[in-house]
Amino acid sequence: MKSISVKEILSTKPEGQEVSINGWVKTFRSNRFIALNDGSTIKNIQCVVDFEAFDEQLLKQINTGAAVKITGLLVESQGRGQSEEIQVKEIFVYGTSDPETYPIQPKKHSMEFLREQAHLRIRTNTFSAIMRVRSALSFAIHQYFQQNGFNYFHAPIVTGSDAEGAGETFRVTTLDAKTPPLNEDGTIDYKEDFFGKETNLTVSGQLEAEAYAMALGKVYTFGPTFRAENSNTTRHLAEFWMVEPEVAFNDLDDNMDLAEDFIKKVIHYVLENCLDDLEFLEKRLLDEEKSKPQTERSEMALIEKLKFVSENTFKRVSYTEAIQILRNCKPNKKKKFKFLIDEWGADLQSEHERFLVEKHFKCPVILFDYPAKIKAFYMRLNEDGKTVRAMDILFPGIGEIVGGSQREERLDILKEKMKALDISEEELWWYLDLRKFGSAKHSGFGLGFERLVLFTTGMSNIRDVIPFPRTPQNAEF
Ligand code: 4AD
Ligand code: MG
Repeated sequence: MKSISVKEILSTKPEGQEVSINGWVKTFRSNRFIALNDGSTIKNIQCVVDFEAFDEQLLKQINTGAAVKITGLLVESQGRGQSEEIQVKEIFVYGTSDPETYPIQPKKHSMEFLREQAHLRIRTNTFSAIMRVRSALSFAIHQYFQQNGFNYFHAPIVTGSDAEGAGETFRVTTLDAKTPPLNEDGTIDYKEDFFGKETNLTVSGQLEAEAYAMALGKVYTFGPTFRAENSNTTRHLAEFWMVEPEVAFNDLDDNMDLAEDFIKKVIHYVLENCLDDLEFLEKRLLDEEKSKPQTERSEMALIEKLKFVSENTFKRVSYTEAIQILRNCKPNKKKKFKFLIDEWGADLQSEHERFLVEKHFKCPVILFDYPAKIKAFYMRLNEDGKTVRAMDILFPGIGEIVGGSQREERLDILKEKMKALDISEEELWWYLDLRKFGSAKHSGFGLGFERLVLFTTGMSNIRDVIPFPRTPQNAEF
């Protein structure tokens, strides 16, 4: 008999029909009630066993974590807590699970413990809910761009460039680590390396996406990016997924409009399609926050917060205005910030970003027109000669979720900026070509996908919203 999913069963009218389900046992109570889950939904199906009709040895194998096939009749539930249940006729055990050693017991485990069991943590309600939301968000992202005339562009993973110029790249090489070939001056001879030059894992697909936007008009990337920043925070991963749309003929205002509309629509999609999981995650968050002092608790419950963001306009503020606000705010005057804001030109730290979003504006904020000095080389210089057409989107509880800009399309100015920052023209000859042949204004941004998943699920550590996190000193699994 063909098996169907728990999700399908729960939307089927129980009329005593025979059904068959594959799944994993969550609990087996009183030798009578099996709660079965197959990952299709947060909900379990209750399977009622008449223990006298089954072999004792078979029932002993039905432990938490065991994989089983259950066949029986789908009927209206006698008990409370569920509307339907299965009266079990047959049980097949694919694989039992030793209750003494199975790490995922039906009780509360700490997130830290579960990170060490990342191959099994997905069997918990919390992680299965997160990963279903993550999957739905991915789909919503593709849907949004595909419906709006964008082409999905696959940026290369191995590249010779460091788009952000932060020098935080992972090197890709086949050279022998102990005895690499050397130049006469003792430096490593990368001509001997696999690609005949120094290469690294990409930190961003932007530069290549620009080439494609200048022919296809509207493109987006959605793929893994890699950064060897040694920041052990709850917001940073060494391998994370980024969504990067790039649009020819868009200026910074168009770019901000696109980013805002895009984020609202994908959050709306999840509200429409993942309500069961969001309700579960909302309860989880409320429980977690009970142990925190009142001042650190969220003002809105998860679903209310998602609705708020998807329905309200983001506040747009220039960097210069933001500095005014920060300079005069209480935590700055009372020296509560770790990095005090004194002069125009200071780089904003996450404490400042979060103050603006959570305390001052109390809504998502788009900051734009940053000082050129603190932003990447490719951003378009403003008339004032000191700011660039950059924008960052800041979210409550997260800080920066999006970074983007209008790109410098003027060859002479771009070359000047590269020279000032010691970026080689030879390396980026092809990027400069884009400014020689049919150059035009264009803009794009990068959304950190895991930061979006963090926000949407109400989780607090980025390690818990990607299946197998890579962070400093950690690449298990
Ligand atoms: O602001 P970033 O560095 O921008 C870029 O890479 C541009 N080239 C994007 C573009 O314009 N096409 O990174 C974009 C976003 C950040 O706002 C943040 O959400 C996320 O990527 N991000 C990280 N997420 C997790 N772990 C890290 N180490 C991250 N670094 C950046
Ligand atoms: Mg950034």
